Amino acid sequence: MTFTVKPVAPDRLPDLLRQMPKAELHIHIEGSLEPELIFALAERNGVRIPYANVEALRSAYAFTNLQSFLDIYYAGASVLLREQDFYDMAHAYFVKAAQDNVVHAELFFDPQTHTARGVSMETVVNGLHRACVDAQKELGVSASLIMCFLRHLSEEDAFASLEQAMPFREKIVGIGLDSGEVGNPPEKFASVFARCRELGFHLVAHAGEEGPPAYIWTALDVLGVERIDHGVQAIKDPALMQRLAKDRVALTVCPLSNLKLCVFPDLTSHNLRKLLDAGLAATVNSDDPAYFGGYMNDNFTRTFAATGMTAQHAYTLACNSFEASFISAQAKAGHIALLDACFEGFN
Ligand code: HPA
Ligand code: ZN
Repeated sequence: MTFTVKPVAPDRLPDLLRQMPKAELHIHIEGSLEPELIFALAERNGVRIPYANVEALRSAYAFTNLQSFLDIYYAGASVLLREQDFYDMAHAYFVKAAQDNVVHAELFFDPQTHTARGVSMETVVNGLHRACVDAQKELGVSASLIMCFLRHLSEEDAFASLEQAMPFREKIVGIGLDSGEVGNPPEKFASVFARCRELGFHLVAHAGEEGPPAYIWTALDVLGVERIDHGVQAIKDPALMQRLAKDRVALTVCPLSNLKLCVFPDLTSHNLRKLLDAGLAATVNSDDPAYFGGYMNDNFTRTFAATGMTAQHAYTLACNSFEASFISAQAKAGHIALLDACFEGFN
């Protein structure tokens, strides 16, 4: 990174954070379902949801840990039945992303949540993929799909999901691992990740959100992932911090998610600044924005306000997001040139 960042007055920093082009690398598309859309889809599909109205649903979003969120998140996804539902969900996200100057997004999706309810892999992948194609055409946002295995289910189940996805191989850029972390270490999925590697998928995994640093080590050394999703618990292990810095392993950090799921007691205590200052390739992401109270720019502006990070940190985070993405070297260079121009022209 050769670009020199000019100092920016604290009162101008939020504008710079909003304006700068950025990539989002950690968004569960089912976590972008706003309560209004949940109710609209429930009505369209004749699905009953156990909340009286939008306000009652939203007021249930008071979480104490990851599992308390996942229970509501999987219930919300039950309104998704047809290809158009998946399209509408992703399209709504892309509109918000474009407003936040997200120019590239890599979307996680959880097919097992849907196939277990009798919705086919084809319905899920085709709806999401069509929304990705239209996002580029209509909004200028490039996008790709990362299929996640649910780690609370068996490895056999993950293999079955991979098999179902093979006809749509060209529509999926990578494989991830999500859901309840503690008690479901990465190594539980060693064989299926080895197969995904042979198939040429990019590999990522959630690790060190609530789980211990040991899970980050095995995500790297057993699964062979290229990025760690969350990874904030790495701070407890100095040798791991050195490894992540030396190998420039990207961490897709999600500050408002960590706040809502009580990983940190408040945003002031969030360790994003420490991770960056230790030389780790951290990025900022929204995780499940409909549930955690904010999309990309909310994550940036609130975290910067709470931690006193600077324009230099902002540049580093945006640059890291492009460097860590699964796009071509040429596309990365193009985005970073526009990022430089944004910082150059900002006053
Ligand atoms: N962690 C694990 N699984 C998830 C998450 C998360 O933050 N969001 C959706 N599935
Ligand atoms: Zn996540």
